[in-house]
Amino acid sequence: MGAGGSGGGGRAARALRLLLLIVFALAAVEYLFGSILDASPLRTYLYQPIYNATLPTIRSREKLAASWPKRVPTTTDLTQNPEVKNSTNITNPILNSNITQIPLANMTGAVMLENTTSLMVTKIIDSIRNQSTTENSDIKRNETELPMCFDEVPGDFGPVPVNKTEVELDWVEKLYPEIQLGGMYTPPNCTARHKVAIIIPFRDRQQHLAVFLRHMHPFLMMQQVEYGIFVVEQAGNSEFNRAKLMNVGFVESQKLKAGGWQCFIFHDIDLLPLDLRNMYSCPRQPRHMSASIDKFHFKLPYEDIFGGVSAMTLEQFTKVNGFSNKYWGWGGEDDDMFYRLKKVGYHIARYKMSIARYAMLDHKKSTANPKRYQLLSQTSKVFQKDGLSTLQYQVVKVTLNHLYTHILANIDEPS
Ligand SMILES: *[C@@H]1O[C@H](CO)[C@@H](O)[C@H](O)[C@H]1NC(C)=O
Ligand SMILES: *[C@@H]1O[C@H](CO)[C@@H](O)[C@H](O)[C@H]1NC(C)=O
Ligand SMILES: *[C@@H]1O[C@H](CO)[C@@H](O)[C@H](O)[C@H]1NC(C)=O
Ligand SMILES: *[C@@H]1O[C@H](CO)[C@@H](O)[C@H](O)[C@H]1NC(C)=O
Ligand SMILES: *[C@@H]1O[C@H](CO)[C@@H](O)[C@H](O)[C@H]1NC(C)=O
Ligand SMILES: *[C@@H]1O[C@H](CO)[C@@H](O)[C@H](O)[C@H]1NC(C)=O
Ligand SMILES: *[C@@H]1O[C@H](CO)[C@@H](O)[C@H](O)[C@H]1NC(C)=O
Ligand SMILES: *[C@@H]1O[C@H](CO)[C@@H](O)[C@H](O)[C@H]1NC(C)=O
Repeated sequence: MGAGGSGGGGRAARALRLLLLIVFALAAVEYLFGSILDASPLRTYLYQPIYNATLPTIRSREKLAASWPKRVPTTTDLTQNPEVKNSTNITNPILNSNITQIPLANMTGAVMLENTTSLMVTKIIDSIRNQSTTENSDIKRNETELPMCFDEVPGDFGPVPVNKTEVELDWVEKLYPEIQLGGMYTPPNCTARHKVAIIIPFRDRQQHLAVFLRHMHPFLMMQQVEYGIFVVEQAGNSEFNRAKLMNVGFVESQKLKAGGWQCFIFHDIDLLPLDLRNMYSCPRQPRHMSASIDKFHFKLPYEDIFGGVSAMTLEQFTKVNGFSNKYWGWGGEDDDMFYRLKKVGYHIARYKMSIARYAMLDHKKSTANPKRYQLLSQTSKVFQKDGLSTLQYQVVKVTLNHLYTHILANIDEPS
């Protein structure tokens, strides 16, 4: 009995060893030939059901979007086209020159509609990632001839005044002729080191917008960054969702820039920087910029704060899956981002309090979102399933004004 039992045990052990060997062998094959397998027809076949590699999943009436992601018209293209001069509604400008003949509401909405959204966004992000690695030869122009813009912040940079006087938007729009349509700017005499999209979540703050643009354009031009200002407005009457609007701003601004932006600054419209040394660029770590606000007596309200104005690179932002889409109403979404960044191992950088100074414009405080603490408690567990990867929205209209690009989006959850 004993012998038979041990014999059975020996067979079992041999079988186990064989099994382990097979597993190791398979692992080795995957390790050695993984890259080949990746490209094999087998894989391609397996991935087929999700979406066609060449064609995004798009309904036939959305056919135009299929030409994506072709070259994006640069702002110069747009200014050269007399039809789109000044304040012009454009549809999704990633498309082609036939754009102006297409009814607006239909087209813009179509691109992001229906259940294809998440896939589309995933693909967009894919291509955004690609953009950041492959330089577009179009945009090299003869920039290479120009010297690089300054690296060390010039010694004469320091505090700048703000003018909080309310002004008419129409009046401000006539200033700064050197800014290109859509609020885009490229330093004329040097090659910018930073390509920065300024993304502003927006609703009902027309009077702030004018003051903001009047202050920001000269400020950013002085800093010699290449930039665009994107005002993302929430359509409809749902509660304000700042974070989701910023996700939309991220995706849409990226589509509007040949070669793509590398740095994203998420900016409340009521905050105006008070010091030129506060560079609008993205350092190695995500940067919380509005650390020192006049209304809070230039003190940091709490150590983990990441709201107001914050800067992230393309890589940082996509690595944390963007902002959460779930914060309706005031508060929490910035702390959520802080947790995301921490979770993937980033540290938050800040300038000295004497540099990170901002003036805040007056406004009524919004009602706080009572669910924010509950949402926050889940962030570190769910962030890969809530963010850019699950972003759904419809672009209602994109308007290129002289000093800013206006993106009106319906971000309501589909019912
Ligand atoms: C993928 O492409 C093939 C051939 O072009 C087509 O028959 C099929 O319907 C496409 N699948 C999807 C999901 O679009
Ligand atoms: C523009 O439309 C015309 C006619 O509809 C078509 O022949 C042409 O190929 C289109 N151009 C582009 C760039 O799609
Ligand atoms: C949208 O497209 C449909 C046909 O596809 C057309 O009948 C309708 O007028 C369009 N709507 C707008 C607002 O252009
Ligand atoms: C979208 O997805 C939902 C469930 O995920 C499904 O019930 C609905 O039929 C889909 N709509 C379309 C147009 O495919
Ligand atoms: C991005 O680049 C990779 C290889 O560099 C390629 O396989 C992939 O299809 C590209 N994605 C898009 C959306 O262009
Ligand atoms: C660069 O551009 C300027 C004006 O845009 C032009 O005068 C100059 O000839 C260009 N240089 C080269 C090498 O193309
Ligand atoms: C602020 O702007 C207003 C309106 O343009 C102007 O009248 C006023 O002189 C400005 N104040 C300062 C200090 O520049
Ligand atoms: C660029 O150079 C021209 C000619 O030297 C000069 O007039 C202009 O002010 C410079 N622009 C900037 C933004 O430095």
